[in-house]
Amino acid sequence: MTLRTETWGLPVRAHQVASLTVTRVLSCIQPTGDVHLGNYLGALRNWVSGQHDKDVFHGIVDLHALTITEQPDVLGDSTLKLAAMLFAIGLDPDVATVFVQSHVTEHSQLGWIMECTVSFGELSRMTQFKDKTAKRVGNFISAGLFTYPALQAADIVLYDANEVPVGDDQRQHVEITRDIAIRFNHRFGDTLVIPEAVTPKAGARVMDLQDPTSKMSKSSDSDAGCIMMLDDPRAILKKFKRAVTDSDSEVYYDVKAKPGVSGLIDILAAATDQDPVTLATHYQQYGPLKNDAGEAVVAMLEPIQARYYELIDDKAELTRLLRVGADRARTVASATIDRVHNAIGLLPA
Ligand code: TRP
Repeated sequence: MTLRTETWGLPVRAHQVASLTVTRVLSCIQPTGDVHLGNYLGALRNWVSGQHDKDVFHGIVDLHALTITEQPDVLGDSTLKLAAMLFAIGLDPDVATVFVQSHVTEHSQLGWIMECTVSFGELSRMTQFKDKTAKRVGNFISAGLFTYPALQAADIVLYDANEVPVGDDQRQHVEITRDIAIRFNHRFGDTLVIPEAVTPKAGARVMDLQDPTSKMSKSSDSDAGCIMMLDDPRAILKKFKRAVTDSDSEVYYDVKAKPGVSGLIDILAAATDQDPVTLATHYQQYGPLKNDAGEAVVAMLEPIQARYYELIDDKAELTRLLRVGADRARTVASATIDRVHNAIGLLPA
C-alpha cells in the first residue's frame, strides 16, 4: 500500500487497516473453456498454496468474456462451473476472496472512468487487441474488445491490489493499468494504488500428451493430448497409455532429447511431489511410466472431482459461497468507488 488512509478523507475501515500491512494480490480468470491439467498444475494449484501468504482476491471475470460471447445462457453456466472447480481444488472461501466480476457492479462503474483516463492511441497499441481482432476478421468485433484493458485496469485498482501475478501475455495490460492509475492520481490527487505485475511462482511443466513439445492445451479437433479436470479415470488412463513417446526405448529425463518421456515424468513428478530427474531413474520402460503417471493423476484428481460434483449438485451452497466472496469484494470495491468519485468531485448522490 503506498497510500495513507488519512489522505482519503474517509473513515478508516477495518479492511483498509489490514491492507496496510498485508500485500493484496489480485488474479482473475475468464470463464471460457473447461479447466485442464495444465491450468491446474501450471497455475491454479499455486493459487491454493499461496492463499495463506497474502490477501488474495480471485475474480471470475465474466464481463471480460462477454467481449466475445454472443449466445445466451453460456456465460452463467461456465461461471458456475469454474467457481465450483476453484473451490474444489481447495480455495478456501474463509481465506481467499473468490467472486464473480458481474456480481460486483463497481467493476463496470470504474471501467467507464478508466476508459475516460486512457487514450485511444494507448488502447490501439495493445498487442492482445491486435492479435484478437486479426483472428476475428469477418466476425463481429465488439468495442469491448478494444476497451477491455480499461475494464481490466478497473478490476485491479478497485481492490487496491499491490501485486498482479501474470504471464507474459498480460504484462502489457498491467503496464497500461499502471499508466492509467498514475494519470488518474496526477489529475485528481492520490487515490489509486499503483499495482505491480509479478511473475507467479513457477508451476509444473505440463506438456501435451500428443505433442510433447507444446504446452498442454485443448485443440479444436481433439483432446487426446489434454487431460481435463473432469475426465473420468478410464479416459485419463487411456490418454496416458496413448501418449506419444520417443523413438528409442530408454527412459531418462531430458526435455530436448526425450520430450515425450520427459513430459510424462514431469506430470508424474508434479502429481506426486517428486523430483523429475530422480523419478526417471526408477523406470526402464515406457509402459510402467505411462501407467504410473496416469494412476497418479487419477488419484490426485479423485478428491477434486468428488468435491466438484458435490458442489455443482448443491447450487444453493455454491451460490452462498459466491455471495460471501462478492460481499467481501464489494466492501473493498465500494470504498474505492467512493474515493474515486470524491477525488473527481462528482456530485454526491
Ligand atoms: N485479461 C486476463 C486474461 O485474459 C484476465 C483478466 C481480467 C485479468 N482482469 C484481470 C487478469 C485483472 C489479472 C488482473 O487472462
